[in-house]
Amino acid sequence: MRTVLVERYVTPLREGGSMPAVVEADDLGMYVLKFRGAGQGVRALMGELICGGIARALGLPLPEIVLAQLHAKLAQTEPDPEIQDLIRASDGLNVGLDYLPGSVNFDPAVDAVSDDFASRLVWFDTLVSNVDRTARNTNMLMWQRKPWLIDHGATLTFHHAWDGTVADPAKPFAPIADHVLLPQASALAEVDAGMAATLTQPVLEAILATVPDCFLAKAAEDRNSPLLADPQAHRAAYVNYFLARLQARGRWLQGAIDARA
Ligand SMILES: Nc1ncnc2c1ncn2[C@@H]1O[C@H](COP(=O)(O)OP(=O)(O)OP(=O)(O)O)[C@@H](O)[C@H]1O
Ligand SMILES: [Mg+2]
Repeated sequence: MRTVLVERYVTPLREGGSMPAVVEADDLGMYVLKFRGAGQGVRALMGELICGGIARALGLPLPEIVLAQLHAKLAQTEPDPEIQDLIRASDGLNVGLDYLPGSVNFDPAVDAVSDDFASRLVWFDTLVSNVDRTARNTNMLMWQRKPWLIDHGATLTFHHAWDGTVADPAKPFAPIADHVLLPQASALAEVDAGMAATLTQPVLEAILATVPDCFLAKAAEDRNSPLLADPQAHRAAYVNYFLARLQARGRWLQGAIDARA
């Protein structure tokens, strides 16, 4: 995973609950920056890295994700005090998504996708417990006539109160009932084996390796759990969770299939 240096705060994306912003980096690329100092906290950024990595491994389209180094001094040239505070609270590493210029929000009434895509996306969002792919807030962009996934900050619902142990990995994900593409996900049983086979232990370990130590340390601060105490153990806890959830996928997959009926 690349690391870029943020050189300029361009403009806020105020429709986003976490106040992401378009920034320009030292490679002259434009990125949507997800700030570690936003109210959602560092676990939202971990969701972007971990679930973005899983989506990419599964062949789902999403913009490049980078780590983005930010200096608090960028706040000096910002007139808005709310943005100044956000920049100061996010000094250090953050997460950036390649900015897709001219993209528009996916609209299920006009944008067509295949049943295969819908099924693979619902399978993925059920695996990672993503509450943010509803008709009201699809977190998909249409760009170059294709849907692109964004915003995996509200995934991994379990990790907001987590001690690192694996409890009930087979648990169906009830909010999948509100998934924007659930009605079209007619091939969940058919895509299942191929999707699961992609997510091997080495693949999951490589994805967790992209999460910086400083994110893991911050997330472990309020936990006081030996399983999360050091970054390597913390990464292993996530890998173990996903391996257990994949192993037990019959039940959560059936939950999604039942939600269609
Ligand atoms: N890579 C991108 N390219 C272009 N526009 C983007 C990109 N990422 C996000 N956006 C725009 O910014 C908005 C907010 O981004 P995002 O959904 O990631 O933020 P959030 O704060 O997590 O939002 P939410 O309110 O859904 O929790 C998106 O709805 C989209 O319009
Ligand atoms: Mg969003």
